[in-house]
Order: sequence, then C-alpha cells, then structure tokens
Amino acid sequence: MKIASLVAASLTLGLPAYAVQVAVQPVGRTLTLGNISYFAPSSPVSQIPNAATLFKSTSGDLIPFSVIPTAKSVFDQQALLETINTWTSKDDVWSDAFLTGVYITFDGTYGTPKTSLGGALTHFGIEHLLRSKRFSAGVDLTTPLPSGPYFVEPTTGNIFQAYRLYNDENQSFLYGTIPDGHGGFQVLSARIPGAATETIGVPSRLYFTPTPEKPLAGFRLAVKDIYDVKGLRTGCGNRAFWQLYPPKERTAPAIQRLLDGGMVLVGKAKTSQFANGETATDDWVDLHAPYNPRGDGYQDGSSSSTGPGTATAAYPWLDFAVGSDTGGSMRGPAGANGLFGNRPSHGAVSLDDVMPLSPELDTAGIFSRDANLWALAGHWWYTNFTSYSKFPKKILFPIDFFGGSFLTNPPAPGTADAMFNTFIGKLEKFLGTTRTEVDFADLWNATKPTNVSTPSLQTLLSTTYADLISLDQIALVADPFIADYGAENDGRMPFIDPAPLARWNYGRGLPSGRKAEALVNKTIFMNWFASQVIKPNPETCADAILLYPQSSGRTNYRNRYISPPSAPLGFSSGRVAVHAETPDMVVPVGEAPFNSTITGKTEYLPVTLSFITAKGCDLMLFNLFSALQDAGALKPVVTGPRMFV
Ligand SMILES: *[C@@H]1O[C@H](CO)[C@@H](O)[C@H](O)[C@H]1NC(C)=O
Ligand SMILES: *[C@@H]1O[C@H](CO)[C@@H](O)[C@H](O)[C@H]1NC(C)=O
Ligand SMILES: *[C@@H]1O[C@H](CO)[C@@H](O)[C@H](O)[C@H]1NC(C)=O
Ligand SMILES: *[C@@H]1O[C@H](CO)[C@@H](O)[C@H](O)[C@H]1NC(C)=O
Ligand SMILES: *[C@@H]1O[C@H](CO)[C@@H](O)[C@H](O)[C@H]1NC(C)=O
Ligand SMILES: *[C@@H]1O[C@H](CO)[C@@H](O)[C@H](O)[C@H]1NC(C)=O
Ligand SMILES: *[C@@H]1O[C@H](CO)[C@@H](O)[C@H](O)[C@H]1NC(C)=O
Repeated sequence: MKIASLVAASLTLGLPAYAVQVAVQPVGRTLTLGNISYFAPSSPVSQIPNAATLFKSTSGDLIPFSVIPTAKSVFDQQALLETINTWTSKDDVWSDAFLTGVYITFDGTYGTPKTSLGGALTHFGIEHLLRSKRFSAGVDLTTPLPSGPYFVEPTTGNIFQAYRLYNDENQSFLYGTIPDGHGGFQVLSARIPGAATETIGVPSRLYFTPTPEKPLAGFRLAVKDIYDVKGLRTGCGNRAFWQLYPPKERTAPAIQRLLDGGMVLVGKAKTSQFANGETATDDWVDLHAPYNPRGDGYQDGSSSSTGPGTATAAYPWLDFAVGSDTGGSMRGPAGANGLFGNRPSHGAVSLDDVMPLSPELDTAGIFSRDANLWALAGHWWYTNFTSYSKFPKKILFPIDFFGGSFLTNPPAPGTADAMFNTFIGKLEKFLGTTRTEVDFADLWNATKPTNVSTPSLQTLLSTTYADLISLDQIALVADPFIADYGAENDGRMPFIDPAPLARWNYGRGLPSGRKAEALVNKTIFMNWFASQVIKPNPETCADAILLYPQSSGRTNYRNRYISPPSAPLGFSSGRVAVHAETPDMVVPVGEAPFNSTITGKTEYLPVTLSFITAKGCDLMLFNLFSALQDAGALKPVVTGPRMFV
C-alpha cells in the first residue's frame, strides 16, 4: 500500500493521522562469486554514461568488473595475462570472476591505442569489453577510477567498490568498518552467508599506490576499541559504556595520522575492559576473550590489546593493528601471539580522544608481522623522533631478568633460553660487540641516588604502577561513567568486570597523597635510568640497548580457572620502560615446542625478546630491526598456529 493511501485510510477509519515518512536507505549489497563473499557499499564511486544502451540489461544484478589501465599502444592477450598474474599475486580481493566486464583505460602517450584480445574474450568469459575515450569509440567514466575490481549496476551504470568479506574466526573484532563518505566510518552491515562470527570487509589493494605523501596507502588497519573514530562508538570493552555514549564526532589524532598516511581502517578490535589486564577466559565477563591463533588455539592472547594482537597473528588480510600499552598491553599480546609490537617512548603520539588508564604512563603502539613494514609505520607515526641509522655497541644483558648467565651456563638446545642465546649471538655479530652482563637489582643498589635510601626497586616501585593507574582511571573514567550511567538509569550502577573493579576498589582505599608520592618514585627511577643505565649518544641516539625475555613459549591455557584479579603490585622487567618512559619493543625470535593438553600433540608457542633503549630513540630501534631482518637475523612471521614457514 502506498504511503498516501495509508494516511487516507487512517483518516476514513477515524484513526489518528500519522505520517509514515520512512526513507528507504540502502546499506550496500552482499554477494557471492563462486564460494567467496563480497560487499558493494551503497554509494557509487563513479558511473558509466549511457550504461543502459551499453549493457542492454534490465536486471539490477551487479556485474563484476575490472578497471585495467594500460600504457601500451595495443592491449593484447599478453598484456591481459600479465595484468592477471600481477593482480593475483598482489591482491586478495580481485579474482578472474571480475573479468565478466573489463574497462581498459589508457595512461600512455600513444595517439589512438587499440585492444586486441581475440580468443581471450571467450577464454576468460569477458562479456562486456569497454574502453576509455582515447580508444576509438570509447566512453569515459564520470570519475576516473584506480585499477582493480568493481561492481557495475548495468541499468544505471553506477560503479561500486568491491570489498572481500572475511570471517573473524578468532573473535578478535567487535565489528568491521567501512568509510561513511563524510570522513568517518560506519559499522559494516554485511555478513558472510552462513557465518557464525563477525564479518570484516577489506577493499582491493589494487586501488592504492603508496606515495611519499601516503606511504601507507592501502595497508589495512584494525584499531583497539579505546580510540575514538568518527561515526563509531567507543566501548572500552564494557557493554554499558558502549550503549551509554553516542557515536564519536571526531577521530583520535593518533588514528587520523595513520589514515592520513593511507591506511585503511577495517574494524574495531576488542580490548580487555577499560584496558586493564584480564586473563582468558574467566576475567572476560562482558566480552568473550579473543583467541590466540598460535599453538593449539586455546592459549590466552594476553591483554589488554588482545583483539589487535590476535587479529594480526591470525589474519593474513590484515596488515597492522593499533593497541595501547600502559603496563604491558602491547608487549604482552606481542609476546603471546608472536608479533612485532611496541610500547613507544611516553608522549610519542597524542592520546587525545583515547580512553585513559593513566596519562602519565599511557602509550600508543602498533603490531606488525614484518620488521620492515613495522619500521615504515613507526617512522610515519612517531613524527617527533629523529631517525638514527647507526646502532649502539653496548648490549645490556640483565642476568636477573634472564634467570642466570647464559655465558657460564649455556641453555639446553631447543629451549626458549637457547633461542634467546642464538639470537643474541647474531645481534652481537651484527653490532660487532659482545653482551655486557649486569644484575639490574644490584645496579640500582650500587648506583642509586644518594638521597634515596631503599636498596630495593621492589620497595621503591612496588605500588607505584597500581597507584597511578587506579587513581587516574577512577578520576578520569570510572567516576564520570558511573555518574552518567546512574543519571540515565535511575541511580543504578553499570556492570564492571572483576579486574577493573578490583583495581578501582584498591584505588578507592588508598590514603590521599599517594599519587604525588608515586610520581616522585617514578621520577627517581626515570632519572636514574637515563643517567646510570642508558644514556643519550649523538651518533646512535642511545649508548646501549637492554634486552629481556618477553615470552618464552610457556602455556597459559584459556580453560583454566584462575585466582580472582587483584591490584598489579610489584616490580619486574616489564615495568622498566613504564616508569623510565622509554621504548620497549618486542620482536619474535623463535617458537618453542610443548605437549598440548588440548590437542594431545606437540605444538609451538612464541619466543620473543624485548628491547629497551633511551627515551626518544624509538626510530633507531625500528631501523635496527629492519636491518636485522634484511640481514636474516630476524624473520617476518606468518599467521596461524606456526610463526615461521
Ligand atoms: C573456493 O573453492 C575453491 C575450489 O573448490 C577452493 O580452492 C578455494 O579454497 C575455496 N575458497 C574458499 C574461500 O573457500
Ligand atoms: C583463528 O583464525 C584462523 C584463521 O582464520 C583459523 O584458521 C583458526 O581456526 C582460528 N582459531 C580459532 C581457535 O578459532
Ligand atoms: C611533537 O612535537 C610538536 C612540535 O615540536 C609538539 O607541538 C607536540 O606537542 C609534540 N607531540 C608530542 C606528542 O609530544
Ligand atoms: C645493597 O648494597 C649494599 C652495599 O654493597 C649491600 O650491603 C646490600 O646487601 C645490598 N642490598 C641489596 C638489597 O642488594
Ligand atoms: C634527591 O636529590 C635530587 C637532587 O640531587 C632532588 O632533585 C630530589 O628531589 C631528591 N629526592 C628526594 C627523594 O629527596
Ligand atoms: C615510594 O618509595 C618509597 C621508598 O623510597 C616506598 O616506601 C613507597 O611505598 C613508595 N611509594 C609509592 C607510592 O610508590
Ligand atoms: C612431549 O611428550 C613426550 C612423551 O612424553 C616427551 O618425550 C617430550 O619430551 C615432550 N615434549 C615436550 C616439548 O615437552
């Protein structure tokens, strides 16, 4: 029934008049080609003029379509084959199903180019061959398009981008995203037919060509759900928080910088609640913990950047993921999932429009599977740092962090310690030096400031981290959220997961003055580290790098019952960079075997090493890892249960 007659009917029936003014809003189309699912967004990117006469089709069905640029005077079968081969190896979205329609554009200098495809037309099932105006009898699109796969609506000539759809099998994402056409993003409305997981859509890599202005063009990015993105809500791992606040009106500058560099946002990834540490699975009450793809698939993915970490380790169609690190939230997942992942120097990028845990300690890091790509992203992102390409000659090897001297007690072959030792041997050779063994605790006791009495870092820093994060997050997140939620819900409390709740309760019990005291202790440590442990150097940025084990291939099964969460007290190797404000960058160096209680087979888990250097020297480390990968001392990792092919 038409809307007008509905209204008329309600009048004659004596019912109250109501205006049904529902706009029909297309949300894009999901379709399959063979056994692969695709998505065509609702807004076209270009149009073919007079399409109805060209296609002679009255069906609204989309036609898979390839835009192929050529500079050749004759685009022949050979040129088509070369295009197909290059595209197949470069892109996971394009397939030869997109040869149903082919549009050849000319970007060369020849006068009037020709096409000569002959038998290829039938061979590849090319039903529609169109050419741009430079060819005789060609047609130009209303907006020129980059190469790659598209969908054409034959009745209107509207052309839509092609997104390939993937299953989020490891449950790393909250949802997939696509641009909203207004500088923001919207939740991808597609779902792979029959899928029982979230669906993520990725645009063709062929649309993008990196340039000096956009060196990251086309690289796919997932973002931890504590960073605001225009058009999307920020949930911080809490369902009530997600529901309470409206979609954001601007994108966090840190994320905008990556988008400006050309990265393509494909989804929001899960965080443990309010970026506090949560252990799989029983701490994760509001969200289900993402699956670590390494080993038997039933290991904890660490937290809090669990979604970004597990996604980067699981999905070859994802290139980068942004997380954050306050007390280990990048480094833990990099270690557990076997990735390159960093905690940068404090203050490396703006954290405006990002949920805070503790502004004095919060940092923004990025995961990658490849040291060279990681360095590319790091150089683009951390604009305030100078890039050094000479490296320190001093390697600090803290025996208390490694659990003993590997020089006097070489570790047994096949163990994680042996993998550390082998890698450090390569590093020594590369840098032309040998490691310096130190005992970190003794070093403090021997060189601490004279006016600080405690001989123990455990005493100086045991509560510093817990005090700062709990007091800061209560003031900046918990109290405003609880008040806002109560105002909307008749004074009710929102649900809070046990881990953040335990930390907030700890903070609420602290005497006043603890934050100031914590900052004093933190500053004492930071100044000591910068003057006694790693110092600036004009040629190499820092005079040393300090190593410690990040992950040693140990199991953390998802299906064990753990003790209730408590405040994160104590000092350990992972706290050095937190308080010293230095970078701490994790690199994969091996994988260690274990007998899985899940599969009953030998499986492998990541062995990773942490590198610390002086504050502000992040780019020197990125360059070092790049050079080590080029020299074969580090290897890129692949996705899935095993890290190395
Ligand atoms: C689709 O089917 C082909 C041929 O059966 C197979 O090689 C390919 O792996 C399948 N792809 C997907 C995504 O299932
Ligand atoms: C993780 O994702 C990979 C790739 O999609 C998949 O093969 C694997 O089964 C997933 N693991 C789990 C535990 O779901
Ligand atoms: C980076 O440097 C610029 C200019 O020196 C400064 O305005 C900005 O605050 C710095 N950013 C950070 C995050 O320190
Ligand atoms: C600190 O150094 C002093 C003097 O060398 C020593 O007596 C003391 O046992 C050390 N304390 C610790 C905790 O190592
Ligand atoms: C220790 O001395 C330094 C100057 O040498 C001063 O800046 C600092 O505040 C002092 N710390 C304490 C705890 O007294
Ligand atoms: C600060 O350090 C002192 C030891 O010098 C320690 O007793 C105190 O608990 C520390 N306080 C905090 C908040 O870190
Ligand atoms: C796995 O179990 C077998 C048989 O008990 C044992 O020989 C082997 O050393 C174990 N491997 C590991 C890595 O623990």
